[in-house]
Amino acid sequence: MSDLLKQFENYKVQKLDINMARGKPCPEQLNLSLPMLDIVNSKSNCFDEDIDCRNYSALEGIPDCKKLFADILDIPSENILVEGASSMNIMHNLLSKSIISGICGEKPFSKQGKIKWLCPVPGYDRHFAMTEYFGFEMINIPMDDNGPDMDLIEEYVKDPQVKGIWCVPKYSNPTGIIYSDEVVRRFARLKPAAKDFRIYWDNTYISQLSFNGEEEPILNIFDECKKYGSEDLVYEFASTSKMTFPGSGVSAVALSDNNKKDYLNYLQYQLICFDKLNQLRHALFLKDKKTIIEHMKKHAKILKPKFDLVLKIFDEELKDIAIWSKPTGGYFISLYVKDKAKEVVEKCKEMGVTLTKAGSAYPYRKDPDNSHIRIAPTYLADDELETATRVICLAVKLVK
Ligand SMILES: Cc1ncc(COP(=O)(O)O)c(C=O)c1O
Repeated sequence: MSDLLKQFENYKVQKLDINMARGKPCPEQLNLSLPMLDIVNSKSNCFDEDIDCRNYSALEGIPDCKKLFADILDIPSENILVEGASSMNIMHNLLSKSIISGICGEKPFSKQGKIKWLCPVPGYDRHFAMTEYFGFEMINIPMDDNGPDMDLIEEYVKDPQVKGIWCVPKYSNPTGIIYSDEVVRRFARLKPAAKDFRIYWDNTYISQLSFNGEEEPILNIFDECKKYGSEDLVYEFASTSKMTFPGSGVSAVALSDNNKKDYLNYLQYQLICFDKLNQLRHALFLKDKKTIIEHMKKHAKILKPKFDLVLKIFDEELKDIAIWSKPTGGYFISLYVKDKAKEVVEKCKEMGVTLTKAGSAYPYRKDPDNSHIRIAPTYLADDELETATRVICLAVKLVK
């Protein structure tokens, strides 16, 4: 039996059960925000300015939470709506609105025939699942280290059936790249044929620092849009999911005056207001940009050794047989093993390590090169992370 097969058998008998499929914060990261749970209690002031957060009101969000996101996104708080626990929920809601009642007076998507959507790849699987669910035809747009292929996008938007694009401009899920200034400018200058074309600018990682705890700025798309009068092109999303507690955080959307009016005219029929006590808790805990930076430095300190470990093992074991991204921040590493991604993921499963399904980072789960594997180092404890990474390397060698 070859040495590699012996190692394979050895892992199998260990009956490992390690799940590396999702990019979740680890328990140490969650612990950083535990003090937030003591801020709003039966003895505290539950008012934000003149708003009693215990009661109905303030559909747009409480003023201090709007200011918080205004600080994070560098956008006036009048152009921000703060909602519930999930930015994905806002994206879904805006897509539903587009289908049911249309965007800014245009016909609903449901009455416009085939809707097409641009999908930079590799990208976020849940974005693609959402547009697949709504029946849109998804079109792959290749990405490089600067962002999506803008020449191709400028060509595609000449088709009036192309109604939008997914973008994760900072620490892109899963490649970790940050869109270059030129890419952001070209998005702001985009002239789509469809008046109801929107860029879904999912800036969920905007407040993340590099693993070294430094700020890595990205051009503010709304500032750029202002230069071309194209503010209506963009919906920008953010949330505290990677700052406090995912699933129990606060989300926000930044949008132009026209888009805000249009969206509120839909939202107002859904609910009276979102969870303002949670908004208050977040506003008091995260306070302002300076406090957020200090908080995010603690996150970076926890994440850095995890990414260092995986990248060190890849360097030791996979040189010349695979390539991978070397992100400066974010939650993922992209590993590329041409024509073998499915086989690697299956081999890992046989050894007790679950990875994100091969193909997940592509529309319809179809990676044309069967090459990309999303590596999520954040959640696992160091010993499990080391084992999982060694298993991945062994799987790559076994299928080569
Ligand atoms: C690109 C991207 N957008 C959105 C989300 C989910 O955000 P939320 O918790 O605000 O719904 C994630 C979570 O990993 C993500 O990676």
